[in-house]
Amino acid sequence: MRKVNIGVVGCGNISGIYFSNLTKVFLNTNVYACADLDRERAEAAKEKYGIEKIMTFEEMLKCDEIEIILNLTTPKSHYPICKKALEAGKHVYVEKPLSLTYEQGAELKKIADEKGLLLGGAPDTFLGAGISTCRKLIDDGYIGKPIGATAFMMCKGHESWHPDPEFYYEKGGGPMFDMGPYYLTALVNLLGSVDYVCGMNTMPRKERIITSEKKYGKVIPVETDTHVSGMLKFSCGAVASIITSFDVIRSNLPRMEIYGTKGTLLVPDPNTFGGPVMLATADGSGFKEIPLTHIYAENSRGLGVSDMADCVINGGKNRAGAELTLHVLEIMTAFKASEENMSYYKMKSKCQRPEPMSSDNIKGTVLP
Ligand SMILES: NC(=O)c1ccc[n+]([C@@H]2O[C@H](COP(=O)([O-])OP(=O)(O)OC[C@H]3O[C@@H](n4cnc5c(N)ncnc54)[C@H](O)[C@@H]3O)[C@@H](O)[C@H]2O)c1
Repeated sequence: MRKVNIGVVGCGNISGIYFSNLTKVFLNTNVYACADLDRERAEAAKEKYGIEKIMTFEEMLKCDEIEIILNLTTPKSHYPICKKALEAGKHVYVEKPLSLTYEQGAELKKIADEKGLLLGGAPDTFLGAGISTCRKLIDDGYIGKPIGATAFMMCKGHESWHPDPEFYYEKGGGPMFDMGPYYLTALVNLLGSVDYVCGMNTMPRKERIITSEKKYGKVIPVETDTHVSGMLKFSCGAVASIITSFDVIRSNLPRMEIYGTKGTLLVPDPNTFGGPVMLATADGSGFKEIPLTHIYAENSRGLGVSDMADCVINGGKNRAGAELTLHVLEIMTAFKASEENMSYYKMKSKCQRPEPMSSDNIKGTVLP
C-alpha cells in the first residue's frame, strides 16, 4: 500500500499518540520528518518512534517528499503554520482549534480550496467505534426524529496535569476552544449543520496556579472565559444545550445525550474513540448497551490523518475536513459574539455531515 509522507510540526504532549499510530497502526502513513522549536523534543521523538529525519518547519516546506503537514503546535501557532504550509502546496491537518478566529479559519479554507489542497483537523474521535455506532443508530431511525441534545464537559482545569498548561488560559484556549471541538464535532456529525447559537460566558478567576510537577506554584494569567454555557439550533430543527467549564470541581451529568421522538441515545465521551453506547426506547425497559458496530474503539488519534492520506491517494473528501472544522470553529466563537451583542448569533458557514465510516474497515485502513 502506498504510504503518504507526513511532516509533523510540534513534538509536545499530544504528539506521542500520533507518532505511535501513524508509524505502527495506519498502513497508508509514513512520518517522514518531525520539527519542534525545542530541538531536544524533536530528537526524542526521532529516537523513540524511529522517524527518518529532523527538519525545521521551513525545510519541510521545501521538501518535495512531504505531502501532509501535521500541525501539533499550540493554538496561536495553528493559523500561521497552516497558512505557510498551504501556500507551499502541502495538505494540512491541524490539532484543534483550526485557528483563533473564524476569519483566519475561513482564509485557510479559501487558500486550500483555491489550490486544490486538503485541509482538516482534530478531533477525529467522531470517526471512532463509539460515535460511529451512534451515527448508525440515528441514521437507521432507532431514536426517530432528533429533537434535542445535551452536552457537558466540566472539569477543574488542566493546570493540575499538563506540564506546560499556560496555553489553555491564553486566547484560543479556555474550555470551549479546548474541549468544545470534541462535543461540537460529534453533535454536527450526528445532527448536521447549526443555524443559530446563543451563549453566556464567565471568567471567575483572573489567575490560576499550576499544580503539575515541573512548574508547581507558578501563577499564570487568565485571558479567556473558563465557564461557557450555550444553546444551539440545528438546521434539522433539533435544539442542544452545552456547558464547557474549567471551573467545576466535580459533576455527575452525562457527557452527551441525544433525544428523539422514539428514544434517547447516551453518547460516549466524545474525547474518546470507544463506548459505551446506551439506548433507551419507548418500551420502558430503560437504557441498554448497544454493541459497537465499528472498529477503532482504542485511542486512534491520527485516524483523521489516515483518512486524509487515503484521499491524497484515491481522491475524495476527507471526513475531518475543512468544512466541518471551520463550522465548529465558528460555533465556538459564536458563544462570545452572542453574549457581546445580546442576541442570537446567525451562523455564516454551513456543513454537510461527513460520510459515515464504513463498518467493513480493516484495521489500519480507512475504506471509503
Ligand atoms: N495534551 C493533550 O492532551 C492534548 C489532547 C488533544 C489535543 N491537544 C492539542 O494539541 C496541540 C498541542 O498540545 P500539546 O499538549 O502537545 O502542547 P505542548 O505545549 O506540550 O506541545 C506543543 C509543541 O509545539 C512546539 N511548537 C510551538 N510552536 C511551534 C512552532 N512555531 N514551530 C515548531 N514547534 C512549535 C512547542 O515547542 C511544543 O513542543 C494543542 O492545540 C492542544 O489543544 C492536546
